[in-house]
Amino acid sequence: MTREMSDSEGRGLRPIVVFGATSDVAIALSRRYAEEGASLILIGRNESRLMAVADDLRVRGAASVRTLLQDSLTYEDHPALIESLFSDHRPARFYFFQGSLPDQKACEASFELTREAVEVNFLSIVSYLTWLATALERYPLENTTGGATIIVVSSVAGDRGRGSNYVYGASKGALTVFLQGLRNRLYKVNHGVLTVKPGFIDTKMTADIDKGGPLWAKPQKVADDIRRAADGGRMVLYTPWFWQFIMLIIKSIPETIFKRLSL
Ligand SMILES: NC(=O)c1ccc[n+]([C@@H]2O[C@H](COP(=O)([O-])OP(=O)(O)OC[C@H]3O[C@@H](n4cnc5c(N)ncnc54)[C@H](OP(=O)(O)O)[C@@H]3O)[C@@H](O)[C@H]2O)c1
Repeated sequence: MTREMSDSEGRGLRPIVVFGATSDVAIALSRRYAEEGASLILIGRNESRLMAVADDLRVRGAASVRTLLQDSLTYEDHPALIESLFSDHRPARFYFFQGSLPDQKACEASFELTREAVEVNFLSIVSYLTWLATALERYPLENTTGGATIIVVSSVAGDRGRGSNYVYGASKGALTVFLQGLRNRLYKVNHGVLTVKPGFIDTKMTADIDKGGPLWAKPQKVADDIRRAADGGRMVLYTPWFWQFIMLIIKSIPETIFKRLSL
């Protein structure tokens, strides 16, 4: 069941929609929009956290902040939620940040845990995107407003399966392929799709992992890269930039060698 929690008077046109709005990277990105006076629609599953994020964005200058409470695994509620996003102004951007990093070892011994990881990281987003893409095709494009952009956070983990996290990697890899097809489809009706592939980010998702070293990025850096890529009409973003080259090397290692490595 989706619950609308608040809806203040919107001043800015074409709101920015943020799924997984309580993600650390989503918060960093939303703060930038708030400081510019944007209207935001936030979707999340944790009521107190979502309210705190919304309050923070209002204080920072958002024209309006609307919050929708929904666990992304409640598939039956997705069509109504997507429909409600179009009730006022047609949103300009749809960001998808939700995801979870499963315990790979635990998943190896449990299909239930594996399924949950695949649902959170892949299937639930596919469900939202199925309804969203259909809605975008249904609303005829008005030249005065332009097309919308869908921005989905995948991961470099989806570029190649590794023994240490292939359940998460497989979910993100499937998501990346789905987004390629969606981009191809929506191009015909002038809507864009941006696939974001971050490396390691210092967020609550990675709270249990030892951090440090040049490969770790802060949420604000990743958020700013995402915003720039969305503004620039990019299709695929590796963030920080050097991950594109790291993954080029990782993808080029022959499988006969790769299977012997501990990655
Ligand atoms: N951190 C990294 O190193 C890293 C690297 C590559 C890609 N990514 C991706 O970046 C994105 C943002 O993650 P983050 O690093 O900012 O981590 P985060 O702060 O833990 O954010 C994860 C978000 O997903 C939400 N979520 C999880 N399960 C959900 C469900 N069933 N329904 C609705 N929302 C759900 C969380 O909600 P709650 O706040 O309620 O828990 C939270 O908003 C994710 O897609 C992640 O896979 C992260």
